[in-house]
Amino acid sequence: MIKYLEKEKLFKIDTVTTSYIIGIADDKYAGHAYYGKRIPDDDVSYLMRINEPPFVPSVNNRDKLSFLDCFPMEYPTHGVGDFREDCIAVRNKDGYSGLELFYDGYEITDKKPHLDGLPQTFPSESGKSETLKLYLKDDVLGLKVTLLYTAFEDNDAIVRSVIMENSSSDPLYVTKALSACIDMDNKDFELMTLNGSWARERHIQRNPVGIGFAGVSSVRGETSHQHHPFLGLLSKGADDDHGDVYGMHFIYSGNFKGLVYRGQFDNVRMMMGINDEDFTWKLEAGQSFATPEVVTVYSGEGIGKMTRTYHDLYRNHLIRSPYKDKKRPILINNWEATYFDFNTDKLLDIARESSKLGIEMLVMDDGWFGNRYDDNRALGDWFVNGDKIKGGLKYLVDEVNKLGMKFGIWFEPEMISPDSDLYREHPDWAIAIPGRTAGLCRNQYVLDITRDEIRDYIVERVCDILSSANIEYVKWDMNRQLADLGSLYLPADKMGELSHRYVLAVYDMQERILARFPNLLLENCSGGGARFDPGMLYYSPQIWCSDDTDAIERLKIQEGTALLYPLSTMGAHVSVCPNHTVGRNTPFETRGYVALAGTFGYELDVTKLSDEDKAMIPAQCKMYHKYRDLVTLGDYYRIASYSDNGYFDAYMTVAKDRSESLLTFVQVMNRPNHHSRIIKLKGFDSNEKYLIKKFNIETGEEEPYLSYMKKPLSGDTLMNGGIIIENMWGDNRGLLLHIVKA
Ligand code: DGJ
Repeated sequence: MIKYLEKEKLFKIDTVTTSYIIGIADDKYAGHAYYGKRIPDDDVSYLMRINEPPFVPSVNNRDKLSFLDCFPMEYPTHGVGDFREDCIAVRNKDGYSGLELFYDGYEITDKKPHLDGLPQTFPSESGKSETLKLYLKDDVLGLKVTLLYTAFEDNDAIVRSVIMENSSSDPLYVTKALSACIDMDNKDFELMTLNGSWARERHIQRNPVGIGFAGVSSVRGETSHQHHPFLGLLSKGADDDHGDVYGMHFIYSGNFKGLVYRGQFDNVRMMMGINDEDFTWKLEAGQSFATPEVVTVYSGEGIGKMTRTYHDLYRNHLIRSPYKDKKRPILINNWEATYFDFNTDKLLDIARESSKLGIEMLVMDDGWFGNRYDDNRALGDWFVNGDKIKGGLKYLVDEVNKLGMKFGIWFEPEMISPDSDLYREHPDWAIAIPGRTAGLCRNQYVLDITRDEIRDYIVERVCDILSSANIEYVKWDMNRQLADLGSLYLPADKMGELSHRYVLAVYDMQERILARFPNLLLENCSGGGARFDPGMLYYSPQIWCSDDTDAIERLKIQEGTALLYPLSTMGAHVSVCPNHTVGRNTPFETRGYVALAGTFGYELDVTKLSDEDKAMIPAQCKMYHKYRDLVTLGDYYRIASYSDNGYFDAYMTVAKDRSESLLTFVQVMNRPNHHSRIIKLKGFDSNEKYLIKKFNIETGEEEPYLSYMKKPLSGDTLMNGGIIIENMWGDNRGLLLHIVKA
């Protein structure tokens, strides 16, 4: 997979279908030679343009700056003449920050280096991986830098990170430490990013890349609703099935920066890592710092192949939970059913009714602890509210278990309300700048969990609750972003470490809780989907996608999320209409079809549901059990996007062995006096024959699809001729087709 071509001085990383090639120019500079379709072991060092003017510095030092300003640098450094955006900046004790990294050897190993405290990819039990360690150094600063590149034998992704070590005898201050960079020639690129807001997370956006900067970032202390740590560079006009696509996705849950810079010679630099705003990391002599991993993917067959590469990588090499490939229990969450207004009786009423319908787990959301009667108080007081939870938590959980259901609970461990016993006792536990009144958000502050005693206290409280009853699921929420960044305990020259330390602290807390409760099903959440990122997947196999549970809004949110994440990770529930966020009415069955593209569950008061809607729940539960493996373990193909066409949405999941697939179709708008639609399917074996069956929500069974498409059709016909979808009466109508090898 990885080799060093000695004569050519090239490092070649070959994945299943791609090659990534790094060259050493002038015996010193690590440069980027090639990334694309897999190619033979030729000498492609010429692609770095080192044989053309302005030459390399050893031949023409007069023009060293011209060289640095255009050389495709593998890991560009600050302050010595590469005037484009750099990846690393380090200041020494005297305030100098120029940095130049020279090649200092390499190692190729089949043991993937472990990055302490960080979420990270890993080889599968039976599979092989190889890692290239490219050693660079700056003798003036006394800094060693190791660029890490890992390839897995079963996947096309390349995983990158960087380790920097202070080899001097004085402290060094790392003020910028990005994880990956690729310098490429422009291919008339378009930039694809995921952006949004609360209730509109991860909408896909695409723009031409002009001269200058473009990109995404967060300084909110978490990934955010607004931007996502992903960059996609697409050759102009690339679509789901055609064109060059380069992806970078960051395995991290805090401040990030993803930048694309198109420079004076039309070269394009793509980079990703921790946001350097407010970031400084002090490295004492001998200490080192590891950056979180960036996953790069190249696809020469459009966006869809990139998507499937990320899905497989995350399913096989990032998610650790024992629930990874397992069916998750169909849950009912009481948030939209009751908000804060519930007690044991109410929850048991919901559970009783739910258990009769096939729902498998009750999740008690916000409001069960302290005097949490609304969202203005009690965060931090992780003691059961005995007035609401009469008889205690164990009684409630036991009663739910007696119904044959599991029980789950909500926490927001990182927060503290000013109106809480915890704050009254420890006002200094909140993050704040001394002398400045910190801003509230949802009437809460953020705990300084970077401090050991605070982290220990919260972990203990959570574990105490989890030990007190048979709790099998936790929803870990986080409902405000970080501001007024000040720690009362970090010294001045470490204050710039707070944001990154905060993220490490979140990881540490989840790691410790999971170590105590290894079978716990953890779902991360942040005011909806503000912490939907690969970092969290290392701890929780599923993440709440969005507070917007409207099926139609979800089409866009889930389309953007599924661009990178397997459907098994996407928290998706059926809720009531008119929808609580947008007031829209959507048929109950459509809400079920859309939620099926995720972990599937309910977020409503089942005791208040109309008989007609309630009658569909057993069939929906059946639907989930029947198709769940196909949906979550299969290959995902986008067929049509409502975001693009404004009328309808369609996507498929196809079993890895191509024996069956499921098509979800949502007709958002009916069109009067209009043809039926012909849509072309994807992912079949060309010569195999397939039968099309329709899922019937009334019976929970399958039935033949249209009478004129009853006979088996070959994969080629389905993919090239397509199938008919007849117009359905009304808007927001859904259809589920199971297409099976005949
Ligand atoms: C935000 C979450 O996204 C919701 O699902 C719910 O858990 C609320 N927080 C509770 O405060």
